[in-house]
Amino acid sequence: MCGIVGYTGPKPAFAFLIDGLKRLEYRGYDSAGISLLNGDSVLTVKSIGKVVNLEAKRPTGERKMHTGIAHTRWATHGIPSERNAHPHTDEKGQFAVVHNGIIENHADLRKRLEAAGHKFASDTDSEVIPHLIEEFYNGDLAEAVAAALRQISGTYGIAVISSKDPDTIITARLGSPIVIGLGKDANMVASDVTALVTYTRDVIYLNDGEMAILTPSKVELRTLANVPVQRQASQVSWEISADGKGAYDHYMLKEIYEQPESVENSIRGRLNFKAANAVLSGLNLTPREMAQINRIVVAACGSSFHAGLVGSYYFEDISGIPASVEQAAEFRYRNPIIEPNTLVLPISQSGETADTLAAVREAVNKGAIVASLCNVVGSTIARESGRGIYLHAGPEISVASTKAFTCQVTVLLMLALLLGRNRRLNHEWGENLVREIEAIPDLLREVLKQAPRIEQIAKATAHANDLFYIGRGCLYPAALEGALKLKEISYVHAEGYHAAELKHGPIALLEPSVPVVALCNNIPGKDKMLGNIQECCARKAPIIAVVSGDDDCCDKFTDSIIRVPESSRFVAPITTVVALQIFAYYFARERGCEIDQPRNLAKSVTVE
Ligand code: F6R
Repeated sequence: MCGIVGYTGPKPAFAFLIDGLKRLEYRGYDSAGISLLNGDSVLTVKSIGKVVNLEAKRPTGERKMHTGIAHTRWATHGIPSERNAHPHTDEKGQFAVVHNGIIENHADLRKRLEAAGHKFASDTDSEVIPHLIEEFYNGDLAEAVAAALRQISGTYGIAVISSKDPDTIITARLGSPIVIGLGKDANMVASDVTALVTYTRDVIYLNDGEMAILTPSKVELRTLANVPVQRQASQVSWEISADGKGAYDHYMLKEIYEQPESVENSIRGRLNFKAANAVLSGLNLTPREMAQINRIVVAACGSSFHAGLVGSYYFEDISGIPASVEQAAEFRYRNPIIEPNTLVLPISQSGETADTLAAVREAVNKGAIVASLCNVVGSTIARESGRGIYLHAGPEISVASTKAFTCQVTVLLMLALLLGRNRRLNHEWGENLVREIEAIPDLLREVLKQAPRIEQIAKATAHANDLFYIGRGCLYPAALEGALKLKEISYVHAEGYHAAELKHGPIALLEPSVPVVALCNNIPGKDKMLGNIQECCARKAPIIAVVSGDDDCCDKFTDSIIRVPESSRFVAPITTVVALQIFAYYFARERGCEIDQPRNLAKSVTVE
């Protein structure tokens, strides 16, 4: 969602903060702002829209300002505007605050502060924080911040500077991530490690209820109750390429093309050919503990939820364990039945999604075995789950998830193999699966070779304003994911449906202007799928068919055929979704859409 970055050190802070904001812009991009310590005052600049607009407002004399905080916003309370952009300050402009999260009791706090004479300048919930700090300030900034935060119910990741405390940043978190970067004679803070890795690899993740006081030479951690905290720095291993998108026009396209390598990284060292098994050490379960798992519940949102749906087919079909998938947002509210032998699998690229995190906490409280599938190392979900499997997809910058999805599904397939070998899957079946998993990167290379043909089909379809995506079996979640990709980046209505469900209502919408993307790969259920395509043709809906290899099964229905390599039903969702990502990309591009930062969206949704 919103992004936070802060710097205190010997260099001019403005350039660092602008660079950090640009790296965080994928998280929120409707407005941005910076506050800098300028002698004994705080200087604040803000702008709506992209960070380049803010960069253009470079303040005179900024090179002499060495401490500052900055924010890129994804609006929750109050429309995107300069007055609602962060940092927010008290009326005298002595305390500047950037905030991620939601303050649930902001209306009460604001009423109380206004009654005490405070004047507010924005419609945001966040603005109560600098006013509260001003109320509590008694010569010690950290104490005032802690006292202010004790008044708040809700979630926050914040950074604060004050004209009363030179060279100092105070940061704190409750439910919204904060990471501190340790540099040489400089210290930094951000909501996301992406903003820091070009400057330092040494980071400290704050836990909920903790705060830190940063000066150029020191970082001091404590709880809000003023109990000192000692924590070793962790090392970040991510490479963020200096050239950003490189030769690609968009991060999304770059990330689509990275998939053979990212899946290879997910697989690396995790397949044991001799044992015909997967090795997933982060799971940290003994064979006996695995054998006792009697149910698997996946909790996730968006694309990660779709990956989980594919996984649920694997767990039942390969491992023989009943599996269900919950929208993470529902998980704790519907009081799920979680027993000690239930394995709860939160899936999250960012590892920070608020609803998925809440599901993790609920599952931990209910005594389940919780193992996360996250991409971001050290993220809150990964840490709170206690055990899990990292995706190793590398940083995903495009808001629309691509390579994280394919890595999630690949990891789920390895997990199903491991649990299956622990129970009913014999050596031969295990060996077959190991071979299939190993072959995925090459199959994805084959799919990428189809990009020019997929581009042609996408361009020829891009006039459509409504589309259906239909699939069966493991390809049903692939249809959901294909439709999600299209709608989020092209703003066109697209619905994923089980092919058999179409005739239970939505078929009423089919007509010549509504294309149907039909996933007709050579897997069990194809014959029925061909029947479902006939039903669409009878309503004159144009068909775009995804088929396996040279299969001519759909030639009689359409010329718009996307060919993905032959594979088993387990691998088909992975190859097919990559083809659908390419389709969505060129469809959106043909319509002139903003692809990497689609309107209204944000990477990593840290509010419920
Ligand atoms: C879609 C997309 C979102 C995310 C969802 C969950 O392209 O990116 O639907 O999948 O917000 O995010 P994570 O996986 O970070 O929990």
